[in-house]
Amino acid sequence: MGAICDIQDMQKLARKRVPRMFYEYADSGSWTQSTYRANQADFADILLRQRVAVDITDRSVAAEMIGQPVAMPVALAPVGLTGMQHADGEIKAARAAENFGVPFTLSTMSICSIEDVAANTSKPFWFQLYVMKDRDFIGRLIDRAKDAGCSALMLTLDLQILGQRHNDIRNGLSAPPKPTLNAALQLISRPRWCLNMLTTRRHGFGNIVGHVKGVADLSSLSSWTAEQFDPKLSWQDIDWIKQRWGGKLILKGILDPEDARMAVKTGADAIIVSNHGGRQLDGARSSISALPEIVDAVGSDIEVHFDGGIRSGQDVLKAICLGASATYIGRAFVYGLGARGEAGVDQVLDIIYRELDTTMALCGERRLQNLGHHNLLHPPS
Ligand code: GLV
Repeated sequence: MGAICDIQDMQKLARKRVPRMFYEYADSGSWTQSTYRANQADFADILLRQRVAVDITDRSVAAEMIGQPVAMPVALAPVGLTGMQHADGEIKAARAAENFGVPFTLSTMSICSIEDVAANTSKPFWFQLYVMKDRDFIGRLIDRAKDAGCSALMLTLDLQILGQRHNDIRNGLSAPPKPTLNAALQLISRPRWCLNMLTTRRHGFGNIVGHVKGVADLSSLSSWTAEQFDPKLSWQDIDWIKQRWGGKLILKGILDPEDARMAVKTGADAIIVSNHGGRQLDGARSSISALPEIVDAVGSDIEVHFDGGIRSGQDVLKAICLGASATYIGRAFVYGLGARGEAGVDQVLDIIYRELDTTMALCGERRLQNLGHHNLLHPPS
């Protein structure tokens, strides 16, 4: 493999190094994957206005997310099974994020537990929560995040039922992998990954194993969500969660202006415009196409964050021009982790940072806070 110049190079390397069931778990959308594809395709259609002969010295891409200073407004999104991309993946990614000065969000469905990540990092991280039927367990999970010093709770609203991802079924996805011929063939072809995984004991769902009773098959994501996740989740539940947590709250999975208005009423600190990376409602619009209407509806009442399809600093800049105050990368950092572990995540953040800074400069701007519709060739009407 030659030089890694961009996130696509990192993706190619990750594909070579990570067993198919885990690479494709991250890199798939639900059903026909049309929404998954639209997330990136719609970014490519947005054109920037090039400006020249503007003084672009003293630039900065620094920002704030929910009151926390960040080196750039690009946090690491919660990604399930991150610790299957690389041994102790959540700890590695959290360290890379803290060294860079951006937030790391730990998924409920992580391999390393909240306590593991806290013990192996030195700055507070964020915790993402799924609401399950067992409210006692949820209460305890919230308390564990508090005890671990997490500085924000991110509640995901768009996954009370799982959008089917065909690849997970074909590949027999499970964590840890089951002893089947299909799995064995996938692992044997990635000996470097296998050796790396022998260096850790963390191979299952760390936040759940030993903390929840009566789950028939904890290793399978689909049966786990079907059994445990609460299809009754409503806006009223958010009150209870907010009170139990008592800190900064981010609501993830908003794609409709009406839901955005409901989210504002909860008193949350931020929303994330997101379609779950095209992994849930196939046929939903791309995240970036939904962003302007949501900013219009609630942008002056709540921080509007964004995820879905970001693979470059140019994409980050486009989301900010369209009104997001901050963004998240999921797959982009996972590729770095799968390709090169912690150093790969460092490199992904560095690539995006440089792309963002240079793109801002070529747009004739020196601060992200000055970006807006005026930087786009065809601003939304
Ligand atoms: C879980 O968040 C998933 O999208 O698999």
